[in-house]
Amino acid sequence: MGRKGKEIVKANLQEVISDLQKAYADEWLAHYQYWLTAHWIRGMDADTVKQILIKQSADELNHAERLANRIIQLGGTPIMQFDQLIQNSACGYKAPPSDPSNIKQVIQDVLEAEACAIGAYSKLSEKYRMTDVVTHEIFEELLEDEVSDEEQWENLGSNL
Ligand SMILES: [Fe+2]
Ligand SMILES: [Fe+2]
Repeated sequence: MGRKGKEIVKANLQEVISDLQKAYADEWLAHYQYWLTAHWIRGMDADTVKQILIKQSADELNHAERLANRIIQLGGTPIMQFDQLIQNSACGYKAPPSDPSNIKQVIQDVLEAEACAIGAYSKLSEKYRMTDVVTHEIFEELLEDEVSDEEQWENLGSNL
């Protein structure tokens, strides 16, 4: 990153990078969880749920991309090993339900992941409000997305 760009970051650079890494891990795991679940599920309501999972799994990958770019911009390295994704993750990974027709479980698992992301981004966005405006902005925008994801799943869950 450029000299001035670095200069305006008042937060501890290693701490910012480590917070970005955690979020990056969570986004990859959410992307994978949603993508795999979309292809795995079967049954009556599966088609609607599948479409939303495909769309949101792409959104989570896009979130990971934004976080990776910021990590690199700050002079850090995005997580290079798959096992490190699990180890760095704050929200963890939930495999699709063993019964592919258990859509209720799918919705519950996604809602859990979204709630965890909302909690994390809300804290992180607050944390860097005054000390790293660019990172703060990214966390805030991702927070907005996850809030809208959660709402969509809650509505879907009550309509199925
Ligand atoms: Fe996300
Ligand atoms: Fe999401």
